[in-house]
Amino acid sequence: MKQEKIFLKDYKSPDFTVDNVNLDFILNEDFCRVISQSQVRKTTPGAPLLLNGEGPKLISIKVDGKALDSSQYELTSEELMVKDVPDQFTLEIETELQPQNNTALEGLYKSNGIFCTQCEAQSFRTITYFWDRPDVMTSYSVTIEADKTKYPVLLSNGDRLKVEDLGNGRHKAYWKDPHKKPCYLFALVAGDLGVIRDTFTTRSGRKVNLEVYAAHGKQDRCHHAMESLKKSMKWDEEAFGLEYDLNDYMIVAIDDFNAGAMENKGLNIFNSRLVLADTASATDTDFFSIESVVAHEYFHNWTGNRVTLRDWFQLSLKEGLTVFRDQEFSGDMTDRGTQRIDDVDGLRAAQFAEDAGTNAHPVRPDSCMSVDNFFTSTIYEKGAEVIRMMQTIVGRKGFRKGMDEYFRRHDGQAVTTEDFAAAISEPNGKDFTQFRRWYSQAGTPTVKVQEAYDASKKEYTLTLEQSCAPTPGQPTKEPFHIPLMVALLDKQGKELPLNAKGVHTNSDGKYIIELREAREVYTFTGMNEKPVLSILREFSAPVTLQWAAAADDLYFLVEKDPDSFNRREMAQKLASDIYSDLIAKARKKEALTVEPRFLKALNALLLDTKASPAFKAKMLQLPSLHVLAQKEAVLDANAFYAARNAFRTAIAKECRQALLDTYRQYHGVETKNHDSKVGAHRRLKNMALGYLAETKDPEILKLASEQYWKAENLTDRMAAMAILAELDSPERTKALDHFYQEWKNDSVVLNKWFTVQATSLRPHTLDEVKALTKHPAFNITNPNNVYSLLRAFGSNLIRFNDPQTDAFKFYADCIIEIDAKNPQVASRLCAAFNFVQKLEPAMKDRALSEIKRIVAVETLSKNSRELLQSAL
Ligand code: ARG
Ligand code: ZN
Repeated sequence: MKQEKIFLKDYKSPDFTVDNVNLDFILNEDFCRVISQSQVRKTTPGAPLLLNGEGPKLISIKVDGKALDSSQYELTSEELMVKDVPDQFTLEIETELQPQNNTALEGLYKSNGIFCTQCEAQSFRTITYFWDRPDVMTSYSVTIEADKTKYPVLLSNGDRLKVEDLGNGRHKAYWKDPHKKPCYLFALVAGDLGVIRDTFTTRSGRKVNLEVYAAHGKQDRCHHAMESLKKSMKWDEEAFGLEYDLNDYMIVAIDDFNAGAMENKGLNIFNSRLVLADTASATDTDFFSIESVVAHEYFHNWTGNRVTLRDWFQLSLKEGLTVFRDQEFSGDMTDRGTQRIDDVDGLRAAQFAEDAGTNAHPVRPDSCMSVDNFFTSTIYEKGAEVIRMMQTIVGRKGFRKGMDEYFRRHDGQAVTTEDFAAAISEPNGKDFTQFRRWYSQAGTPTVKVQEAYDASKKEYTLTLEQSCAPTPGQPTKEPFHIPLMVALLDKQGKELPLNAKGVHTNSDGKYIIELREAREVYTFTGMNEKPVLSILREFSAPVTLQWAAAADDLYFLVEKDPDSFNRREMAQKLASDIYSDLIAKARKKEALTVEPRFLKALNALLLDTKASPAFKAKMLQLPSLHVLAQKEAVLDANAFYAARNAFRTAIAKECRQALLDTYRQYHGVETKNHDSKVGAHRRLKNMALGYLAETKDPEILKLASEQYWKAENLTDRMAAMAILAELDSPERTKALDHFYQEWKNDSVVLNKWFTVQATSLRPHTLDEVKALTKHPAFNITNPNNVYSLLRAFGSNLIRFNDPQTDAFKFYADCIIEIDAKNPQVASRLCAAFNFVQKLEPAMKDRALSEIKRIVAVETLSKNSRELLQSAL
């Protein structure tokens, strides 16, 4: 296997144009044949024909109908080269594959008897020899031939032309996609599946047939996905004027799927956990995730499919933009304020960690070993922040204008992030030259805030300094162009009119500072009293603030900032400081006491009838341990654990009555309604119960147990089970056994049972996880099983890094075993080692020696190798 790096600077445009391709799939139980016939034109005189191919057995290659003998081409493990080809020709290639033995789940493979494909990023080349690069776009005609009884459903992209009965128990379906596309968007499904159908009429009157396919018997759980699809189609018309462009839109739920879902043109393939949902089998979070992922894949139809990528370094062009679009959609479907809070929490926990670790990379990377490793939270979530900053700078109206321009310029093309930035900035008369550093420089910038107030001049001065720590391969950084949304508040919390050079309002009327230099000073005049600063409102840029704000100001903002994001942000800042203090005390074995002022503020908020339950839930949530670990110099799992328990118990004690009242107010209300508002009520009351349970008060534990046994939806059942799973009592075993019996034949739900045990903070969690890997319901070749048990355990910061056990060795064994079968799944486990550098010396040595052991495996995939090597 090739281990070299590939570089963006080596990009060359393709030497050939493919006018169209015909693909014939002949599917059998023991092997499959694929015949591809392309009409090809040479655009670079003298260029040899170079096709990508990894693995498919080459049966024959013909140029203009004449078979080539082996002296006329060169075949390596990665490429097929034909030196002499005419300027224009028909290329016919026949290959043979064994999808039934494909454990990597990339390319053509089988899941529970269903043939399906996953071609992004570079797996089309495992099916046939082709130009496996996104800038070669062509039109596809596809036939699929298979046994009629085993595979009654035969699907591919585009329009369904006809199905022929071949008379011998087999049938053949014909598909044609009228839109040109790169091969990573090709898809095929063949199997015996159930389906639900609906229609959507686009605003110009096109009637679209909508189909959601899943295993027989699971159709009843497909309705939420269908509703989500219709909402997405409508929203994209309203928000961006974008209409669907085919007669059919299909979603297929597959049980063995490496990622979440895939936006293949007209034929989305989904991980079944992101399709199937009903009250008994899905939590509110699942309902939400399904809606947002269905939307994400649908939105790709324009941002990704109609306009695609020039090369894989541009992945964020479609992923960042599409995540941004699905975040906006979710905000409109639920509540923009809390949506923003959730998105930023996610960004901080995963992406900031990535930026601070050994695998930090820019939103538009310039080199890599494995393109598969690009599917990161930097490309996705930070990419979305970069788009959001553009919107903040030009305002929402200006952004829409830019998006229209983007499609006007680039529909049908394969383009770059620079093309996108130009389409947004130019119609708005903005210069994004400096802004584009967000694409090329890795790392999370720090913005240092200093304030001064001169009462005699009635002047308030704000000094902002930016810096960015070195990241691998980038020792120094140029200043970023950072949009900071700001306000100055008076004593009542009202926003003051701002008058300062360098501060302007965007087209939405929000005050924006565009920080461009390493240090800038802003002077606000006419300030009759010292104002309170609210900065980085709505989290207008993915930066870390370094701001020694006075505690009084922070508590004031928690109570009064009209920007709900910052109210919660300041509460997080206070909580994070308290946490650090507790961790430091725990390390010194001192008593762990929590600042009463914070506890009182939290209690007051719980009693505040004006605050929404959704917002209260956000306020009640403490900074995650993953976020704290980024901030702390040392990751001392025992100290983290002690601090966590002390903090949560203190809240439970101080707010006991308010928490109990909250619980009683919302428990048992509208238990079968999954509307986001009702879901937020449930989240709040289950959080309340979670806090109360920290005291291990038998009365509370009785409540939790009752909730488990009487639950009318999975959200309540899981919330109670998570509490019981932390106990050492028969209640725990009873609930876990019951859940297992109930769902043992339903892997999507049973995965939650694995996760609850893997994320338990009890000291024996490692032993239990080890035992669960031997459980009959656990299948190491199923990605969801691995993610639910092993990746979940890897994210259990306290037990994964517990010095009393040896989780690292166990985890390394798992990675090695899985990598041999499925490199993509294995490489997703590697993130558990992200905090190695923060461990205490003895622990760090242990972790590093396990990483070395993994990397020493000669056959290790380049995916895992790239991610782990950097830690050494
Ligand atoms: N493009 C898909 C999405 O964002 C993700 C595909 C992930 N593929 C992979 N090989 N990791 O919706
Ligand atoms: Zn995507």
